[in-house]
Amino acid sequence: MSDPHRGLLVVLEGIDGAGKSTQIRRLQLLAQALGFECVASREPTHGPYGRQLRESATRMRLSRTQEHALLLLDRREHLDVLVRPALARGAVVLLDRYYFSSIAYQAGPELAATQIRADNEAFAPPPDLLLILDLPVAVGLARIGARGDHPNAFEATATLEHCRAVYRGFANEPHARLIDASGDADSVTAQVSAAVVRTLQARALL
Ligand code: TYD
Repeated sequence: MSDPHRGLLVVLEGIDGAGKSTQIRRLQLLAQALGFECVASREPTHGPYGRQLRESATRMRLSRTQEHALLLLDRREHLDVLVRPALARGAVVLLDRYYFSSIAYQAGPELAATQIRADNEAFAPPPDLLLILDLPVAVGLARIGARGDHPNAFEATATLEHCRAVYRGFANEPHARLIDASGDADSVTAQVSAAVVRTLQARALL
């Protein structure tokens, strides 16, 4: 569902270790320096539905259908409480993961990617800019290890290879940009910043 809003919805997707949170912190500073209110958030949220999904990642996994149902509830609440009001105020909203992650992680034999997408796009506004932070899985896993984190159940190599391929598959969509996230953080910041500025200009917000 597309609902015109005054602000800008920017989504960052990519496997763990791609540097999404670092780039979001930097984009937040950029947006504020340009004079925008900027709201940064993440999915799953830290609300009750998001918590259950995270538990599914650390303990025994729920079925994909159950995870998808929880994520839809979480996303609806997130949009209603935080994202839509911010966009209506004209804010730049930066999201660390969105429904593209549901397509990457929840699609499977029992749940088609097309179904997940349709269920989400029935209520969730598509991003104005989708930044796909792309890097080899081994590089992402090495970064996770270097920061002392242990991969969760969603972070097995085969799962991450699948997720990377799904994310790359979105690269040709109209509002998507494939970003090489394998290099140093500053070169990634240059690429994502340029994409945000161009999108603000294209929307006549800058
Ligand atoms: P993550 O970004 O790792 O959050 P945090 O670091 O705060 O725990 O997200 C948790 C996991 O949720 C991640 O491994 C991917 C998964 N996930 C899905 O499976 N489907 C989704 O739709 C989303 C948004 C995330």
